[in-house]
Amino acid sequence: MSAPAQPSGSAEVGDTGAHEMEHGTTKLAVETEALTRRFATVTAVDHLNLAVPASSIFGLLGPNGAGKTTTIKMLITMLPPSAGVARVAGYDVQRQPVEVRRAIGYVSQMLSADGALTGYENLLLFARIYAIPRRERRDRVFDALEFMGLSEAAHLLVKNYSGGMIRRLEIAQSMMHRPAVLFLDEPTIGLDPVARRAVWAHLRELLSRFGTTILMTTHDMEEAEEMCEYVAIMHRGRAVATGSPEALRASVGPQASLDDVFVHFVGGLIDEGGSYRESARIRRTARRLG
Ligand SMILES: Nc1ncnc2c1ncn2[C@@H]1O[C@H](COP(=O)(O)OP(=O)(O)OP(=O)(O)O)[C@@H](O)[C@H]1O
Ligand SMILES: [Mg+2]
Repeated sequence: MSAPAQPSGSAEVGDTGAHEMEHGTTKLAVETEALTRRFATVTAVDHLNLAVPASSIFGLLGPNGAGKTTTIKMLITMLPPSAGVARVAGYDVQRQPVEVRRAIGYVSQMLSADGALTGYENLLLFARIYAIPRRERRDRVFDALEFMGLSEAAHLLVKNYSGGMIRRLEIAQSMMHRPAVLFLDEPTIGLDPVARRAVWAHLRELLSRFGTTILMTTHDMEEAEEMCEYVAIMHRGRAVATGSPEALRASVGPQASLDDVFVHFVGGLIDEGGSYRESARIRRTARRLG
């Protein structure tokens, strides 16, 4: 496996490709300026400004309905912004969607692996989608399975996997083409503490081996504290606080936990933004994983 992932097909000097996004002296993997998405009556994402340093793990926190998934969907070019700008790996999501798609991996909030196929077959399907050359596919698939600790389960049907194994398979699937930036929407929802830690360990390994930038959403403050160099707390579509977990805790009080920070900035109104539909969906996901 090679050095830090680069968006494929990118970026010789003079190419129309990536800008060197600088923020101070830090290169940015994701940058948004006043990014906005409206649905009929709801402004799901409202003038959001984010700066995610390259090769960091960045957490998007916020109550149900805060706009986290909508933000990710705009960053991965699944949903067009209503206004504002977003760049991923140096590419503009609206003007350079093909380049963005090549540079990213994505694991959705809902389970997406196909239970009727084996782990190997699931990955092989994605190897084709990612246009990994035929002669390399098998090796890449086995590398990815091994990397995520799934070699022994390669030929089991995914419907017999545990929730933790499915999540690891989905992460394997999302990284096979060695994306520069990985988007993970609630990667450990519904997992037991051991499975959750296994996912964490593999994500850290992705960062240290390939320099992959990871943007993840979570409701789990322990996860944010353990994993994220920086977090942004979203509330009603806006980033109401951004910084390292440490800095945010210090800003709220000497003994403050990240839970306290969350309540401080969101006002403890966890239920306000979350519709019944959203809660039901989350429980359904957790049950399927369990
Ligand atoms: N396709 C859609 N059509 C209409 N409204 C939508 C659509 N997708 C999201 N919304 C609304 O946008 C808001 C933000 O939703 P989003 O899914 O981004 O929140 P979230 O922060 O990911 O929440 P959760 O923590 O529950 O996953 C919510 O009010 C939601 O109902
Ligand atoms: Mg969501």
